[in-house]
Amino acid sequence: MTPGVIGAAPPPLPGDPARAVLEQHAEALLEHTAAQTFPLADEVMRLDPAHYTSPERFAREKARIFQRVPLVLAASCEVPGPGDFKTLEVAGIPILLVRDRHGAVHALLNSCTHRGVAVASGCGAAARFTCPYHGWTFAQDGALLGVASATDFGAVDKAALAMKRFPVTERAGLVWAILDPASPHDPADLLGGIDSLISGFGLAGWTHVSSRTLHGPNWKLAFDAHLEFYHVPVLHRETFGPDRSNRAFYFSQGPHQRVIAPQSRPGAVSRDDLYALGRVPTAGEPADPLLMGEWILFPGVSINTFYPGGHRGVLLSIVVPGAEVGTSTTTQTFLAETPPDADTRKAMEDLGGFLAHVVGDEDLPTSAFQQHVFGTGLVDEVRFGRNEGGLQHFHRWLDRLIEAEQDELPALLASPFA
Ligand code: FES
Ligand SMILES: [Fe+2]
Repeated sequence: MTPGVIGAAPPPLPGDPARAVLEQHAEALLEHTAAQTFPLADEVMRLDPAHYTSPERFAREKARIFQRVPLVLAASCEVPGPGDFKTLEVAGIPILLVRDRHGAVHALLNSCTHRGVAVASGCGAAARFTCPYHGWTFAQDGALLGVASATDFGAVDKAALAMKRFPVTERAGLVWAILDPASPHDPADLLGGIDSLISGFGLAGWTHVSSRTLHGPNWKLAFDAHLEFYHVPVLHRETFGPDRSNRAFYFSQGPHQRVIAPQSRPGAVSRDDLYALGRVPTAGEPADPLLMGEWILFPGVSINTFYPGGHRGVLLSIVVPGAEVGTSTTTQTFLAETPPDADTRKAMEDLGGFLAHVVGDEDLPTSAFQQHVFGTGLVDEVRFGRNEGGLQHFHRWLDRLIEAEQDELPALLASPFA
């Protein structure tokens, strides 16, 4: 069991083993609340700030994390229908995500096989993609359909000139890909069971409300702020207020985690409030209380639940490195459980704007200063407290997966629920 983490990776149980784990989490939360106990990590952990600034370290993270483990690139409902596409960039790699007319999602290197130009930008729907440079055309699965002025151009092997395809899978209503076309793994085999734990959200049938992208410093500095609530009543005193608890319960599932506040959300009545329910929901009751809290999908994704106007929505935050060590993007995507009416959509868009303010104007400028001062070389170490077990877990798993060989990944990231 990882220090400071309760409920870590229990063994599979008969029946519905993922639900059984969620019930164990809920029981542990209720027991700790009743006893007013609070698990802490064994010791304070220290980290060399060069982890955030070193180009060599960053190159290893790109090659051994971001090009080897499955990454959440989108919610399935961002590309719900045939031809729907989205473009994004992860660690300098441009990606075109597109659903074909048979319903399958493809994750392609967004680069024309003539001379490299991006064949799509932004998001939208397209029957095919035409490169804006010389006009080569590509199918929704990346196949090369047409070479402009083919006779003039000369002989090409069209079958060999499809856009590069990354291994991709859809699980739990999310699109996951491994950004290595030659990866020996199916991303579905490396999810560590987190897809089973969050499947109860049923995200596959949700509705995309809004997305916005924020720019920040090193991806880990941007993401560290998702992994503890220690800073919440201090840094966010003007937005979330000074009365929030600065404590968090942590649960882990392989490298993935849950971070849960020890109190109900002030002033909000929500269906997922386990503390208000005071017991584990039975099989016939709504499962929302089993899913409460912030879900952390390794390496850089968080899912937070909200109930604006009483309607369930989640903020899917995807933090990825930029092309350089000191840059990242945080994409905040708001999803609604049911198609929102105008009032609900307005409430969700307002909440999305508020959360962009919290992260964009409070968290990320703070992280940017950390990046700045670490760059001076004058800071010897940073520390993660016994109350910041989630950060300790995250940074230890990063090192563990960087050190692991490719053929060790399936064992490290196997699902206990398969
Ligand atoms: S680079 Fe795409 S057609 Fe020339
Ligand atoms: Fe924050």
